[in-house]
Amino acid sequence: MTFDQWTRQVLDRVESALDHYLPAADVLPAPLHDAMRYAVMGGGKRVRPLLCHAAGELTNATPEALDAAACALEMIHVYSLVHDDMPCMDDDDMRRGKPTVHVKYDEPTALLVGDALQSQAFVTLTADVLSTQRQASLVRELALASGSVGMAGGQAIDLASVGHSLTREQLETMHRLKTGALLRAAVRMGALAGETPSAESLAALDKYAAAVGLAFQVVDDILDVTADSATLGKTAGKDAKDGKPTYVSIIGLDASRALAQQLRADAHAALEPFGARAQRLAELADLVVNRVS
Ligand code: IPE
Ligand code: IPE
Ligand code: MG
Ligand code: MG
Ligand code: MG
Repeated sequence: MTFDQWTRQVLDRVESALDHYLPAADVLPAPLHDAMRYAVMGGGKRVRPLLCHAAGELTNATPEALDAAACALEMIHVYSLVHDDMPCMDDDDMRRGKPTVHVKYDEPTALLVGDALQSQAFVTLTADVLSTQRQASLVRELALASGSVGMAGGQAIDLASVGHSLTREQLETMHRLKTGALLRAAVRMGALAGETPSAESLAALDKYAAAVGLAFQVVDDILDVTADSATLGKTAGKDAKDGKPTYVSIIGLDASRALAQQLRADAHAALEPFGARAQRLAELADLVVNRVS
């Protein structure tokens, strides 16, 4: 199977699974469920679900177990985007090529869409396609990655940093938390959804995920400067306008590009112990670094 065929197959599975794990649009309260579906369905690159499926193939996780983990990750991710776009945070009116949730609906709805998606993510992880032991370990991974020592903590640092110049070390910490933590969780959760990985395997996957997770936000910072809004599906040029410290603002465009390539090489090196079995993860590292949106 080519990478494109594999990707298409996973994306199709994940789209149906999201439809399955989200409450139907006519379930009470219908306007909230409609808005949750507006935010989640039919959009985004689904990088976290792809990483989760690719990692799970290494531990022979069932596709159904991986779908549940992938949907939980995507729900948390979309919640983070909906809140990130609100006027009290980045104040963006376009996301995934459509009006943001607070623009299409209203601010209280956007707040509640995020809250409800967060809860729904954890409901999804208790699906009986995962053993109770795996449910507990995945809940812990996702909770840690999305909370104050992960995504939410990184977002707090991001907001507190507006208009300030961070050191490179502080910037890396912010990026590892706000974006890296959830991408790392995607890899770990995929692996933990199958046969228990050895400590060495998990450590190698962690190294891979740390590199890909940081690379992802470095590239996001680059694309904010180099891509246009139509390609990105979100407002380009927003970071500089808002005075956000980014890799581009702190080390410049060329050094940021070089760093992304270095992280891609680090990710590949971390996969060496797995040989050809990690082909999908290797291809995903390339996708993350070489993407144009
Ligand atoms: C955007 O994430 C926000 C960041 C964490 C950088 P993605 O680039 O994965 O957004 P979608 O899911 O493809 O819309
Ligand atoms: C967002 O970072 C990270 C999270 C949503 C957790 P950004 O603010 O850079 O993401 P975009 O550029 O709006 O997608
Ligand atoms: Mg932001
Ligand atoms: Mg933003
Ligand atoms: Mg950005």
